[in-house]
Amino acid sequence: MNNKIGIAKEYHKITKHSPSSVYSNIHFLDWENKPLPFKFFNNLDLLYLPSNFPLADNGVITCLQNEQNFSNMSSNELDLMRISQILFLSAGITRIQKTNNSIYYMRSASATGALYPIEIYLACTHIRDLEDGIYHFCPGDFTLTKLHSGDYRSTLYHACGNNEKIITSPITLIFTSISWRNSWKYQDRSYRHWFWDVGTIISNYLSLCNANSLLTEIIVGFQDDLVNKIISLPSRKEAAIVLSPLGVGTIGEKEISNKHIDNLDVEFDTIPISRYGEPNFPQIWKVHEGSYLEYENDVKKWVEILKTVRYSKKPDKISLERENLERGTPLYKVILQRGSTRKFSQKPITQSQLEKILYLANKNIPFDFIQHDDSLIDIYLIVNAVEGLKSGSYFYDKINNTLNELETGDFRKASEHLCLDQKLFFDASSVCFILADINKILKKLGNRGYRAVQLEGGIRLGKIYLAAYAQGLGASGSTFYDDEVTNFFLPHSINRNPILAAGIGTPNYVSKSGKIHVRNIDREDILKNLVY
Ligand SMILES: Cc1cc2nc3c(=O)[nH]c(=O)nc-3n(C[C@H](O)[C@H](O)[C@H](O)COP(=O)(O)O)c2cc1C
Repeated sequence: MNNKIGIAKEYHKITKHSPSSVYSNIHFLDWENKPLPFKFFNNLDLLYLPSNFPLADNGVITCLQNEQNFSNMSSNELDLMRISQILFLSAGITRIQKTNNSIYYMRSASATGALYPIEIYLACTHIRDLEDGIYHFCPGDFTLTKLHSGDYRSTLYHACGNNEKIITSPITLIFTSISWRNSWKYQDRSYRHWFWDVGTIISNYLSLCNANSLLTEIIVGFQDDLVNKIISLPSRKEAAIVLSPLGVGTIGEKEISNKHIDNLDVEFDTIPISRYGEPNFPQIWKVHEGSYLEYENDVKKWVEILKTVRYSKKPDKISLERENLERGTPLYKVILQRGSTRKFSQKPITQSQLEKILYLANKNIPFDFIQHDDSLIDIYLIVNAVEGLKSGSYFYDKINNTLNELETGDFRKASEHLCLDQKLFFDASSVCFILADINKILKKLGNRGYRAVQLEGGIRLGKIYLAAYAQGLGASGSTFYDDEVTNFFLPHSINRNPILAAGIGTPNYVSKSGKIHVRNIDREDILKNLVY
């Protein structure tokens, strides 16, 4: 199936936004059936994670720059304290906002429509005070729930095409997406959001791995059915999308066995996420299952495709290393401060601030399927107000770390229009458009390449947020009119499709920092406050 790339091409085509598709869409938001943003298991014990975890106070710039080549490996034990820190600052609740219709439990990473489709599971072993097993993390009451007991490294090793990193890591995180959480609003297009929303969480997570000197990998290649089974996911409702061993090399090797997983065929009792059921969006499951890797060997082959042949040219190390960046504000402060800017002031930012954002957003991602300094995406920009740069359109040459002017002119109206006519992106000092040659990627990687490129877009977006807030600026992700973005940057953008957009600028208001909301909300409150 993965090689039938007509599936991903078709999905991409039918989920493109255009002015006519957006204005003719009769979809309305059914507030009565709004999905619950938390997965709550019934009848299982909760393990309350510690709330007094150490804060990650390393400089944010250092964390964003770090390329996972630590001179000395972490001497910090990966204990419940550190696990709590990483989970909270990646996906915890930092703000609670009440509106007329709903309460929003806003999180440390941005997410389309604040709907939070991503769940996190942890396969743990060798953690002090924690029995080996598979756990679900709930950011709502900041708990872990044990789903299965035992050491699952062998099974996950096989599922990820004999990935040795899993064997030497005490934890493998499994990120999943609950489809209806996001399709409630964004319908079929929400499949793209699965990867954008996990991507922003992973940006925070990678910075935290760097802060704690913990080696990791972002795994896109795995046997879907097997991983979904290991965490007992309900079919065609929730699916595993990314795995990540945390603390690679910190525990000793073990003998790899063929773990039997028959006993995992259980259906857990969970609180339904919507009052009137979860409508299904068949296009989503068609493209998702069309990118399945079925056998261990399929995974092994898939992860090797781009390991030897680079996708992009190698960055010019010398020019990148010329950058002399200060350490920056403590990482945790930037994460707590982050929030999507709701109004930009139109005040100019500086060229150096913009270049720093682009440089940091393009640093290595430790993917399983390409060399870490390789990348599937490129960044184009509209510059509206940047001191030192003429207003106009630009291409960011990530190989040489330079901004290349494409056309000069006042393009504020265009940046607003391309981002679905949202005024926010008229006021932004600059709007970045992340583009990729989807057809070329699909030819190389099959339908799975669609997941990979959307995910890379999401991670780069998360890094743009952090790098902007690190410099006291603001940012917001954006959706876009697909073909119009490509057309705007022609001829340079020929064959490229937009993956994501982000506005950058100075907010026209001062926002309060978010907080560590871990013990002041509980399950009953959440259920009372939401539609239930
Ligand atoms: C991929 C992505 C796309 C987004 N697109 C838009 C958008 O088109 N317009 C907008 O106003 N906000 C957009 N946002 C911002 C979200 O609405 C925001 O992240 C969410 O409400 C949570 O708020 P927070 O980021 O302040 O925590 C986007 C965020 C992400 C991650």
